[in-house]
Amino acid sequence: MTLEIYETVDDIRAAVRRARTLGKTVAFVPTMGYLHEGHAALIRKAAELAPVVVVSVFVNPLQFGPQEDFDRYPRDIEHDKQVIEQSGGGILFFPSASVLTPPDLQITVDPGPWGSVLCGKSRIGHFRGVCTIVAKLFNIVNPDYAVFGWKDAQQLLIIKKMVNDLNFPIEIVGLETVREPDGLALSSRNTYLSADERERAPWLYKALSRARERALSGECVDVTTLRDDIVKTIAEKVNGIIDYVEIVRLSDLTPLHRVEIGNTMIAAAVFLGKTRLIDNVRF
Ligand code: PAJ
Repeated sequence: MTLEIYETVDDIRAAVRRARTLGKTVAFVPTMGYLHEGHAALIRKAAELAPVVVVSVFVNPLQFGPQEDFDRYPRDIEHDKQVIEQSGGGILFFPSASVLTPPDLQITVDPGPWGSVLCGKSRIGHFRGVCTIVAKLFNIVNPDYAVFGWKDAQQLLIIKKMVNDLNFPIEIVGLETVREPDGLALSSRNTYLSADERERAPWLYKALSRARERALSGECVDVTTLRDDIVKTIAEKVNGIIDYVEIVRLSDLTPLHRVEIGNTMIAAAVFLGKTRLIDNVRF
């Protein structure tokens, strides 16, 4: 089956309506393109959930700060089309900026308090931009399911909360982070890493995993000690600039003093050269 590609709101709506008339359910994977094996896993998951899989590729200007990498964010739509087809995606929504973010856009979605912790502290307005574009995409695509990666745990939790609080009739499905063999989480931004930075980057996940192991074994459940240890390893081995390392409750993103097994997330962001790496472990 060849990939159907639509660029306007009317066209993608009509395509989804045709599928729905045939009684088919729809699963949706929103992306910013430059697709890798992590995105492919989300698309395969979507294909398990519903017979019609819609993937969107849109580099959303609303979620980038003025000093961030919007202009140099990597793009390769021909490669993206191949990944979508090979992973079981049937429909690509590929709108231009004028379609989704016209200059007169003025209503936005407030992400609430979870939007200003962790990544939201240094990326002011980021989660407002994410919620606004995802809400628009949900209204345009009208899916039964939408699949998001745990790689961006805070994003996944905020989108789940948005769908719950604003009554979108959509089931949000989370998929575990896909990693390189050495543990580095796949990311479109990994392409910015120099060879030397690429060697050091996996230590971020190693540091987080080690803390998880120490907490689960009972060796250390004190949050300050665990955090200090992670910061030390990142400073020594990743040798980047730490944005944050935080140990929070998974259910509401508030800081923890003692690890709560079953409700703990350790999340971190580190600048390594031009790249901002993020990762997390949950237990
Ligand atoms: P993007 O960074 O392209 O990611 C699209 C989806 O792929 C997100 O749900 C993200 O969590 C998931 N993903 C990325 N890397 C992954 C990995 N290594 N393993 C598993 N899943 C991974 O996230 C966005 O785009 C945007 O914010 C978007 C939701 C599209 C709104 O603009």
